[in-house]
Amino acid sequence: MKIQAPKGTKDVLPEESYIWQYVESKFRQICKLYGYQEVRFPTFEYTELFQRGVGETTDIVQKEMYTFLDKGGRSITLRPEGTASVARLFIEHGFASRPMPQRLYYIISAFRYENTQGGRYREFHQFGIENFGSKSPVTDAEIISLSYNFFVSLGLDNIVVNINSIGCPVCRKDYVKNLKEYFLGYYDKLCPTCKQRLDKNPMRILDCKEDNCKLIAQDAPKPIEYLCDECKTHFEALKGYLDAAGVCYRVDPYIVRGLDYYTKTVFEIVDVVLDKELAICGGGRYDNLIEQIGGSSTPGIGFAIGVERLIMLLSQKGLIPQKPQVPQVFVATLGDLATKKAFEIASTLRFEGISTVIEELSRSLKSQMKYADKLGCDFSVIIGDDEIEKGVCKLRNMKTSSEEVVRIESLAQYIKSKI
Ligand code: HAM
Repeated sequence: MKIQAPKGTKDVLPEESYIWQYVESKFRQICKLYGYQEVRFPTFEYTELFQRGVGETTDIVQKEMYTFLDKGGRSITLRPEGTASVARLFIEHGFASRPMPQRLYYIISAFRYENTQGGRYREFHQFGIENFGSKSPVTDAEIISLSYNFFVSLGLDNIVVNINSIGCPVCRKDYVKNLKEYFLGYYDKLCPTCKQRLDKNPMRILDCKEDNCKLIAQDAPKPIEYLCDECKTHFEALKGYLDAAGVCYRVDPYIVRGLDYYTKTVFEIVDVVLDKELAICGGGRYDNLIEQIGGSSTPGIGFAIGVERLIMLLSQKGLIPQKPQVPQVFVATLGDLATKKAFEIASTLRFEGISTVIEELSRSLKSQMKYADKLGCDFSVIIGDDEIEKGVCKLRNMKTSSEEVVRIESLAQYIKSKI
């Protein structure tokens, strides 16, 4: 039986890898512009980090994690997201003593055992941002403006950021009490997991993917109706700053997000990808996360963008740039002496930044030209004994098939002037 890539994973072939490089470089650019610096961290963590960080009652922890015991009997989990790991990194490396706020970004793979219909993968990739140490709504606006301007820089100029506030532990008490009462009225219709959630964390029912629970959740009380004064003021200030930053946003009282660490601001950017409404970016404030996983109280806020979904959206909208031509030049050789000369020529061209390959299979000149044509090269350099003796080469323009004789020492400059 042929071995295939596991369900829910994706190989990236050369036809597509340049797009990944393109979006990554755009993301790095915007992070730099907003003063964010990269962190890298392990693909797996101790399971406890996600249980305590993401939350025991979330779908991610209950149903979607890739968890196993390693040979030393430790429970290990492939990261289902990046925030808990960056918070762990923040504590472990004493970031609390660095100047605040700390602005960090990451580009990671993440793993969730999910149904693999359109836009959902089991291994997927995220561009993420985390800001630690600021409680101010200025930071919420900066973060949202960063994600908004990232999408705009890719040509996605019609996006709208949906924002909401889910309050803090103070206002949540009253909210959760009312939510519990509401769901108790529908107890028999809830799925078994939500019946458990009702006792432990009724807010998670709002995020359940079962049809019946989704239907019941539609008329449930909304967190924004229960905000305390501090949370209300924070949200109002955020909206003012977003207006000032020129971010196009909408208040969506139904956003609750599927992770337990959020407080106050939450936001999502949603678009239609493969005929389905899918979130391409999700984030929010998490002022208690660092404390929850053992650090000293430090506010934080961040977001993550799904890279697969972003690329699907860009290609749907015709916003993918043309693939750069690689290689640009093919060096065709006739005989062993020419092969030796080809190394010299290729190395000079590469030194000048021209992407160059040489013939490696000793084929006939006709086959070599066919190959160069298939590679899409702009030029072929042809060398044989005659040319070597005279210090020249033939330069073939692969698009027009015209040939000219060029001195080897001026070849690089000449090609550079033509491409
Ligand atoms: P999240 O909403 O779970 O948030 O994921 C962020 C984004 O990752 C989603 O909007 C989506 O584009 C993408 N994504 C999630 N699951 C999948 C999947 N199975 N297949 C493809 N793409 C997926 C977080 O992960 C939080 N850590 C974001 C955050 C950072 N909040 C604060 N800081």
